[in-house]
Amino acid sequence: MLTRAGILIIDFGSQYVQLIARRIRESKVHSVVFPPDITISKIRDLAPRGIIFSGGPSSVYDKGAPSVDPAILGLGIPVLGICYGMQLIGRILGGKVIRSGKREYGRTLVHFNTKSPLFAGVPADGVTWMSHCDKVERLPAGFSSIAKSDNTGNAAFFDSARKIAGVQFHPEVVHTEKGDKILNNFIFGVCKCEKTWTVKSFIAGKLEDIRKEVGDKKVILGLSGGVDSTVAAVLLNKAIGNKLHCIFVDNGLLRKNERERVRRLFTENIKLNLTVAAAEKQFLSALKGVVSPERKRKIIGKVFIDVFEENARKIRDVEYLAQGTLYPDVIESKSFFGGPSKTIKSHHNVGGLPKKMGLKLVEPLRDLFKDEVRAVGRELGIPEEMINRQPFPGPGLAIRVIGDIRKDYLDILREIDWIIIDVAKKYGIYSKTWQMFGVLLPVKSVGVMGDTRTYENTAVIRAVTSVDGMTADWARIPYDVLGELSNTIINQVKGVNRVVYDISSKPPSTIEWE
Ligand code: XMP
Repeated sequence: MLTRAGILIIDFGSQYVQLIARRIRESKVHSVVFPPDITISKIRDLAPRGIIFSGGPSSVYDKGAPSVDPAILGLGIPVLGICYGMQLIGRILGGKVIRSGKREYGRTLVHFNTKSPLFAGVPADGVTWMSHCDKVERLPAGFSSIAKSDNTGNAAFFDSARKIAGVQFHPEVVHTEKGDKILNNFIFGVCKCEKTWTVKSFIAGKLEDIRKEVGDKKVILGLSGGVDSTVAAVLLNKAIGNKLHCIFVDNGLLRKNERERVRRLFTENIKLNLTVAAAEKQFLSALKGVVSPERKRKIIGKVFIDVFEENARKIRDVEYLAQGTLYPDVIESKSFFGGPSKTIKSHHNVGGLPKKMGLKLVEPLRDLFKDEVRAVGRELGIPEEMINRQPFPGPGLAIRVIGDIRKDYLDILREIDWIIIDVAKKYGIYSKTWQMFGVLLPVKSVGVMGDTRTYENTAVIRAVTSVDGMTADWARIPYDVLGELSNTIINQVKGVNRVVYDISSKPPSTIEWE
């Protein structure tokens, strides 16, 4: 599904690109992100109502600084340049960009011309967020200045005939007062967008798209028990009913009762074609004696593909593989700045399958951010408990039992994990943390229970706050809750006589232990 009267964002490498897209979507206008090499014909296909040039770390005069086809500015589509985007417009249209003598960075007071449509309804003076050393010194022909700061008379410019604007500051970040109003002025006031991007309209459009794309062909989907694959499955099920075949692989590394929970949800609550592949033995025997975290991951990935493929082949005449890929993954994989690879994808497990099995891909969520997926899930009637689940890694408990994977260790960890989740939910901590889980250290220490000496394993409680899993801080769980966790675990879980709390942040540690 394309923009449908939305905003096209061109990414010049700003750390805020996704934030711009989010802000616009929050205003119920669809937004998409493309790299600067987007062609004019592609833009014509997308037919956006407006274009935003993002900020970026380069200087327009740097060798190899990213640029666009200058014809974009002659399409008659309104354009807003933010920071680097403004400087680029200035440069392309014949203005002069210079390195600012005084570095303008962080909170900066700006005086707005509130007669300009971009600043309508915004107080004349406001704090903005700047993050660039360059500035437009001489405006291109046709432009006038519509804002100034101590450092520049051209903190924003506008050509009202061509509807091309630029702001030196970042309206998308919360530090810019009334930044949302400024963005909305551009989207609605200048571009005349309509509020058509809603959960309901997304679902309706997507059902139509899926039916059109897939027709009466069969689709397989790997259910993981997480939010993304669940929402993708329910959406596809609604679109094509029993042409969808889901496969859930029980690798023996799942949380307590997980297989039964998934089976019940998808056969009793949401009825769809479900194959449960009971593959615990296959995984555990392949993992026997393996200690290296990387080898564990590789083995699990490989066995997963074998099991998935074996079960997929039993379903005859399949033409499509569905995946719950999200928009941030799509933007990332298109990244042309070669930034560090980000979150480890939950779907990379089946990444090689489509080619191997000659399948075409369907990715019904590839337009959405995580919170939008949750909203779609809610609208589709998926239980709240499922929608709000914390992330769980593909390799499961294998990367939370340190060292050799044994069934008895996994069983111990399942009990620990169950208690942690239960207590976290009881005190409202589950929804406030990014992840909260247990790790089993097969390191034995001495304890005393009653009159008896014990010599048992160590349980670790890991709880972190994070926005995207890329960085994380250890959660400040109240001592009383930690106390209750420790007592409950030691009293109820056989095989554990010591509980410790992990107070490492990421970096330098990681969230998972292996
Ligand atoms: P780390 O441990 O790298 O984890 O700080 C960051 C986030 O990614 C999750 N994670 C994985 N997810 N397959 C997944 O689907 C994996 O192999 C994997 N490894 C880590 C982890 O739970 C955290 O949310």
